[in-house]
Amino acid sequence: MPTIKERDKQVIWHPYTPMKAWPEAIAIAKGEGVYLIDEDGNRYIDAISSWWVNLHGHSHPYIAQKVSEQLSVLEHCIFAGFTHEPAVRLAERLLEILPNGMKKIFYSDNGSTAVEVAIKMSLQYWNNKGIKKKKLVALQNAYHGDTFGAMAVSGRSIFTEAFSDFLFDVAFIPFPSGEHAEQSIAVLEGLLQKGDVAAFIAEPLVQGSSGMNMYSADTLEQYFRLCKKYDTLIIADEVMTGFGRTGTLFACDQINTSPDIVCLSKGLTGGSMPLGVTATSQAVFDAFYDDDKMKMLYHGHSFTANPTICTAALASLDLLLQQSCEDSRKRIIHAHAAFATSIIADPLVAAIRQTGTIIAIELKTDTPSYHSNMRDFLYQFFLDKKIVMRPLGNIIYILPPYCITNYELNYVYSCIKELLEELKNQN
Ligand SMILES: Cc1ncc(COP(=O)(O)O)c(C=O)c1O
Repeated sequence: MPTIKERDKQVIWHPYTPMKAWPEAIAIAKGEGVYLIDEDGNRYIDAISSWWVNLHGHSHPYIAQKVSEQLSVLEHCIFAGFTHEPAVRLAERLLEILPNGMKKIFYSDNGSTAVEVAIKMSLQYWNNKGIKKKKLVALQNAYHGDTFGAMAVSGRSIFTEAFSDFLFDVAFIPFPSGEHAEQSIAVLEGLLQKGDVAAFIAEPLVQGSSGMNMYSADTLEQYFRLCKKYDTLIIADEVMTGFGRTGTLFACDQINTSPDIVCLSKGLTGGSMPLGVTATSQAVFDAFYDDDKMKMLYHGHSFTANPTICTAALASLDLLLQQSCEDSRKRIIHAHAAFATSIIADPLVAAIRQTGTIIAIELKTDTPSYHSNMRDFLYQFFLDKKIVMRPLGNIIYILPPYCITNYELNYVYSCIKELLEELKNQN
């Protein structure tokens, strides 16, 4: 009887995977809390929440129960002309906790489509008002997804190289790391002053894919204030930062100025099922509220607001908003900070960054690229220790499900320390 991974090789094309160099996938048979368990019974700590989606652990019994109940009530129905309790309830509950000013929820399927919708809304918003604002501004090295609009507002990189001729023009401002913050803010103001910027999009506080690059709430606040001053829409892409990752429920909760549009996905369902949300202010919604059919938003997906998935999101919110979950996030934040202090002086550590429950360690290397040999070495090193970690080039990071225990965290930290020793022995 062939194994799952043998059968996989015959029929599957994996995402973000150089199929020739990495021809064999690990077949996961079961998920349990922070662990992914393979077909041979090996238990891997999911230190990156399976691409940043999982909040409460795998196969959470509460989410499973709610989803199972919903499946036999209403599994799915069309969402144009029809509605249902899970979608309405989820929208009500999200609007209660989202940053101030969010008044409407538009559903889609994933992070890229949540961004795609936000881009279309912001371009059509000005079009509907008869105002000529067509430019988009984003942060250098941003990552907003893999569909064409989302790629266009993402930094040009190895991810977008093959499609560069087909991506619309976007102005990128410098990443506001430490000493570059003022320059970045000044460049944004220079662009906004021209009066033709439809929207500014950013991953608030933490740029994920670019290497868990972090910047201050003060800079974010200044960006947003400038956008308000020059009448430009603000899109906060909270696909990765949402649902507690940065220490607050949303990264934008750390500032006073509200965005006009917020994109959500990943942790929205606790990582159990795919769902995208584009939340908007009343003003954005109102620009489409018209008798003129040319002014409506022509966008929707077959599985928009799938009731089963909305139910998973409601169950995840129940868990997320419990005091015990908040306590776990605080515990992780403190543990990360103590660990950072313990390795900051290591000669192989180029930088350590932490925002909330996310910690990133940049290792010194001569080849800091996404596909560097070091990346492959690091990936395998942690797999051998039964830890799922997908380094971003020479940057390793922990972005765990909130159910991770101190014992499991300490195990991950101790393996990182072992890695540093191993690298020293190699040099
Ligand atoms: C900030 C951000 N936006 C959008 C996306 C795209 O989400 P998805 O992979 O669900 O399409 C990601 C994915 O990593 C992300 O980190």
